[in-house]
Amino acid sequence: MLDGKKVLFSGMQATGNLTLGNYLGALKNWVNIADDYETFYSVVDMHSITIRQDPAELRKRARTLLTLYIAAGLDPERNCIYYQSHVSGHAELAWILNCFTYMGELNRMTQFKDKAAKHADNINAGLFTYPVLMAADILLYQADVVPVGIDQMQHLEITRDIAQRFNAIYGDVFTVPEIYLGKVGAKVMSLQDPSKKMSKSDENPNGSIYLMDDPDTVIRKFKRAVTDSEACVRYCDEQPGIRNLIDIYCASTGKTPAETEKEFEGKGYGDFKMAVGEAVVGVLKPLQDRFADLQKNKDYLDGIIKKNAEKAQYVSNKTLRKVQKKIGFPERVR
Ligand code: TRP
Repeated sequence: MLDGKKVLFSGMQATGNLTLGNYLGALKNWVNIADDYETFYSVVDMHSITIRQDPAELRKRARTLLTLYIAAGLDPERNCIYYQSHVSGHAELAWILNCFTYMGELNRMTQFKDKAAKHADNINAGLFTYPVLMAADILLYQADVVPVGIDQMQHLEITRDIAQRFNAIYGDVFTVPEIYLGKVGAKVMSLQDPSKKMSKSDENPNGSIYLMDDPDTVIRKFKRAVTDSEACVRYCDEQPGIRNLIDIYCASTGKTPAETEKEFEGKGYGDFKMAVGEAVVGVLKPLQDRFADLQKNKDYLDGIIKKNAEKAQYVSNKTLRKVQKKIGFPERVR
């Protein structure tokens, strides 16, 4: 609890360009629930370096992501939006938690196995202890809830295990966080292969809608989206391509699948794809306009970045000092 509200923490990596899937599946959800919580939304740049990054590119992407948080509707006066690397407690607590996490636990993480296979030439220790840094992110702020995608479930579970293990030894130091999975329907699949999640790192750019795609590009990608063979707009397992487009349409317009089927009764895929494209342009255009405005206002953004990092540092220090004391680090002389 912070100021009488439950605490929410979440983070996103600044790698790759954000897609419509990141927006409809995560960011939009963050905006919808923000008012009910005391929120911390971090750009987790420290996680990004577990994979080799180009420095200039990483810096640029981190700023873009932070700006997008705001453009998507998170009020930076009421939501603590900050860079993970600006708050020293993340690394400090991660080190301590490393000493309360077992090799065997980390070895089981499917994301580690996937990434190690993908980057076989750079299986660094940071990649291995990635989940511990994530646990530190969450536990530093005594978060009650953590909205994440289903792919992060295992990392949330290890966070809970670490917190409980620590608490069992030292008393109630950490809040044990709950996983907050977004509503169903927000899972967006690739436009070229509806069995795969729409991804920032898809090699085929036509599979993903990027948040910065201009209207023509958006429409063109939807026109090319793979569809199915029933030639009608019906929401069912046999039509994974159409089902994905219906999900996107519903998430963009607030309509239900049943309403959508009715709206497009007797119409072909072509009309429907056009309508989905337009609905998505309707979602992205205002976001892009706000983004452009924010980008012009460098001083304002810099001010937000500074102020929020200070707030995050202040809140996280309280937990860190408590932890340091519990484990027996010498107290600071004031
Ligand atoms: N690992 C998360 C992802 O790739 C990002 C992340 C880092 C995160 N720290 C977090 C998410 C803390 C939630 C809470 O999606």
